[in-house]
Amino acid sequence: MRVAMIGTGYVGLVSGACFAEFGFDVACVDKDAGKIERLKQGEIPIYEPGLETLVASNVKAGRLSFGTDLKSAVAKADAVFIAVGTPSRRGDGHADLSYVYAAAKEIAEALDGYTVVVTKSTVPVGTGREVERIIRETRPDAEFDVASNPEFLREGAAIGDFMRPDRVVIGAESERAQSVMRDLYRPLFLIETPIVMTSLETSELIKYAANTFLATKITFINEIADLCEKLGADVHDVAKGIGLDGRIGRKFLHPGPGYGGSCFPKDTLALVRTAQETGSPLRIVETVVDINARRKEQMAEKIVDFCGGSVQGKTIAVLGVTFKPNTDDMRDAPSLVIIPALQAAGAAIRAFDPAGMHEAQKLLPGVTWCEGAYDAMQDADAVAILTEWNEFRGLSVDRMKQRLKQPVMIDLRNIYEPEEMAQAGFRYVCVGRPG
Ligand code: UGA
Repeated sequence: MRVAMIGTGYVGLVSGACFAEFGFDVACVDKDAGKIERLKQGEIPIYEPGLETLVASNVKAGRLSFGTDLKSAVAKADAVFIAVGTPSRRGDGHADLSYVYAAAKEIAEALDGYTVVVTKSTVPVGTGREVERIIRETRPDAEFDVASNPEFLREGAAIGDFMRPDRVVIGAESERAQSVMRDLYRPLFLIETPIVMTSLETSELIKYAANTFLATKITFINEIADLCEKLGADVHDVAKGIGLDGRIGRKFLHPGPGYGGSCFPKDTLALVRTAQETGSPLRIVETVVDINARRKEQMAEKIVDFCGGSVQGKTIAVLGVTFKPNTDDMRDAPSLVIIPALQAAGAAIRAFDPAGMHEAQKLLPGVTWCEGAYDAMQDADAVAILTEWNEFRGLSVDRMKQRLKQPVMIDLRNIYEPEEMAQAGFRYVCVGRPG
């Protein structure tokens, strides 16, 4: 089985490397010649635990290659995956499909023999059908089927998620396409991974429904956390108490500064727009989008309040700026709202992040970037934890106290225990737990 992966972004690179690990021949293609050159040298453009080793071993085994020549990769392939970017279009919140459609046209010109063209990027319902139309129009003689195969991997846990998924969703309508797609995931049969085989439209919608449901779950627990603060209840126990009910489930009930990243904000917005336009609005998701946007501002207000109502002339140490740990991704990170709001309120920011600072420097002007967590706390009036990196979980309270002007912590990821922090002499606040 030969695979061509068009696009070496997050999804393309991880999926390409994992399919190669399954034993298939994978050619990863990208228009960005510089990126391909760096990948050939073994340089991985994203921070993802385990990816560098996986890429290196599969390149060495001759199963994984990188290039800019889409034509030859597609001509040889049994399955061509479209994994190009689908950013939010400016203005209307819809996904921008121009890269997907451009790829479809190029693929059409290169098809040689029966091929399944698969959309791997998150694409709105109807995109697969349009890809099919474009290919048919460009190459009426081509032998092909279009399939949808959304990816559910999480950044920071991408390889494990690909290799041991809860399920694989495939939208494929002809028996021939279904059989090629099944063969691609045959290595997962051993671990009895359920395969959900559907139509193109259903498969595309499953991806959006999954992400919007998870975003809703997070937003729900965030609001319950706010209520806990008013009522003196503990959101961790509430999450456990409801999550043990199998119908609810324990995962994605961790409160925080609002969801971010390259997926939830974009996908919730895109589904809201699609639903509105089809006359079947998703009012719950509309509300989730609004609450989450507002939450990031509220977190800045929470920090200001805890600093006595003003941060004018104060220094705030910020630990973590990425949207979550184990990634260098800054897209829609809460820090991008919280830090500028604190600066606008007159605070100076000293920040540290284990992987995100390179990217963050371009997005957050005026921040003093520090060498480590303790360095960030030097002479600061308070420390705010924005991302739950493991290395922030076990900081020494004594060393923190030595560095900080006064022991004040705003823990927006609930990684410390309120009681222990109080005992250690900290003024401490977190999300949804009594102090
Ligand atoms: C998400 C989904 O989890 C993946 O299944 C999906 O494949 C991916 O989007 C995508 O569509 O490509 P990801 O964005 O990498 O994955 O990150 P998550 O781990 O889902 O976290 C998203 C945001 O929610 C983060 O800002 C995180 O801090 C926040 N979150 C998550 C919470 O605030 N509480 C939780 O309990 C869980």
